[in-house]
Amino acid sequence: MINLKEIVQTYSQGESSITVLDNLNLQVNQNENIGIIGPSGSGKSTLLNIIALLEIPISGKIEISGVDCQKLKAEEKVIFRKNNIGFIFQNNQLLEDFNVEENVALPLILDGVSFTKSIAKANDYLKLLGILDRKKFKPGLLSGGEQQRVAIARALIKNPSILLADEPTGSLDNQNTNIVMDFIIDLSKKKNILTIFATHNLNLIKKLDKSFKINRGKLVELESN
Ligand SMILES: Nc1ncnc2c1ncn2[C@@H]1O[C@H](COP(=O)(O)OP(=O)(O)O)[C@@H](O)[C@H]1O
Ligand SMILES: [Mg+2]
Repeated sequence: MINLKEIVQTYSQGESSITVLDNLNLQVNQNENIGIIGPSGSGKSTLLNIIALLEIPISGKIEISGVDCQKLKAEEKVIFRKNNIGFIFQNNQLLEDFNVEENVALPLILDGVSFTKSIAKANDYLKLLGILDRKKFKPGLLSGGEQQRVAIARALIKNPSILLADEPTGSLDNQNTNIVMDFIIDLSKKKNILTIFATHNLNLIKKLDKSFKINRGKLVELESN
């Protein structure tokens, strides 16, 4: 579960400052998929980065799975994020020096799991996502949709309880958008992963349990359908 209370985030540049999140509240239950909708610059990434504990807001309370995250020290935040949160980036951020299975296995390898075990688990996820036959390819040789599926596998390999997806289909055509969204939603339901999608694509919200629009730094729930 995620509970955000009165989150404020402002950025200053010289004399001017902008308030991106303005006393924003959000509560999401563990079994829910939600969407955060808003045009470019509305604060979607800022919100996801704050939930991922990658960015510290000016004020407000962040509770994730019962933990008061503002109270964690910097190194505790890193560990909490590694153990609880999977992040899918818009531009997937796959490493071109590694092949697909190594990219997916990396979070486990960095955690000290043996290379063989990490690769075996990576293969399980690649199979689940229907791209096992691409495991020895370098990411650049894959289509955009396949690359995003690799990024999803990497985000899921440590069994996160929370999955944050920042415009995961932003660079995909309609067909691949549907495939990728259906994969994420299906998996998150099966594995009870709380998932938050940031998107500017209004069509996607039909697939989600709830959606919110960012409006002047606050969230307004949208009616489904
Ligand atoms: N680190 C930062 N420093 C200054 N301004 C920032 C920073 N991060 C985001 N912003 C500004 O905050 C606003 C919201 O950005 P962002 O959260 O990336 O929006 P979105 O993801 O919806 O496109 C934008 O005006 C952006 O320029
Ligand atoms: Mg963004």
